[in-house]
Amino acid sequence: MHFRHLPFMARLGLTMLMLVLVGGLAASATHLIWHHENRDDQKGVSYDDIAGAYHGVTADAPLMRAMKANHPPELPEQARKVLTDWLMSGRISEDFDNIDLGDNAPDAIIATNCVSCHNRNSADTEARKIPLEFFDDVRRLAFAKNIKPTDIKILAASTHTHALALGTLSLVLGVFMLGSRFSKGLGSLLIGVSGLSLLVDLGAWWLARDNEVWVKAILVAGPTYAISTGLMCLLSILDLWLPAKKQPE
Ligand code: HEC
Repeated sequence: MHFRHLPFMARLGLTMLMLVLVGGLAASATHLIWHHENRDDQKGVSYDDIAGAYHGVTADAPLMRAMKANHPPELPEQARKVLTDWLMSGRISEDFDNIDLGDNAPDAIIATNCVSCHNRNSADTEARKIPLEFFDDVRRLAFAKNIKPTDIKILAASTHTHALALGTLSLVLGVFMLGSRFSKGLGSLLIGVSGLSLLVDLGAWWLARDNEVWVKAILVAGPTYAISTGLMCLLSILDLWLPAKKQPE
């Protein structure tokens, strides 16, 4: 069965359907970016966004990291303890400039011990990027990161639609590749790559919940699947319209 020998209208229709699929892939990519980019507070889709969705991410607040790393070394132990307790208190906003705490209020400690380096006009070019002058500056660094993975029921719903729809899509495109002039070379390679990457991607969605290593598999397999699928659509269109090679069939 060679699709390129089909009547004109059939080839036209098949070509339009391939373009619909390419449009669908572009829409998926856009959806993925919009859906994932805001999970952490950095702009764009970061590793933490994807790791957060499939595995979850927990990390100390940057201020807590600094306290644990004995930064800055000159900070008196007493003041370090006050800041550490405050960060763990669950009253970060309430106690930041609590006047009852006097010189032990976090804002006073930070003003005395940190702002000389951590201000927007600081001579220290590294510390200047991490200003601690205002509460808004401090608040951004005061909270631990705790991103929970997507609810398992939503993951099941997403897997069921993706597995059935994409598995079927890839089967159809595989048949197209086998009925094309590319069946032996590039076509077979793409069938192999797309099948493998789809299985790894969907499987890794589940495996990543327990083991973060699989987040990397998602990051590799997802785009690989999308690219190989797009290429199969383009090769199918090419095969429908390029003149047939002059050789006995
Ligand atoms: C002598 C200058 C200086 C002082 C004083 C200082 N810092 Fe820093 N701080 C730096 C520099 C330089 C960096 C960037 C390089 C690094 O991470 O060590 C930094 C980094 C940081 C970071 C980012 C660390 C991370 O892991 O992302 C935080 C948070 C921080 N400082 C908090 C503080 C706090 C709170 C104080 C006061 C208790 C303070 N710093 C006092 C110079 C200073």
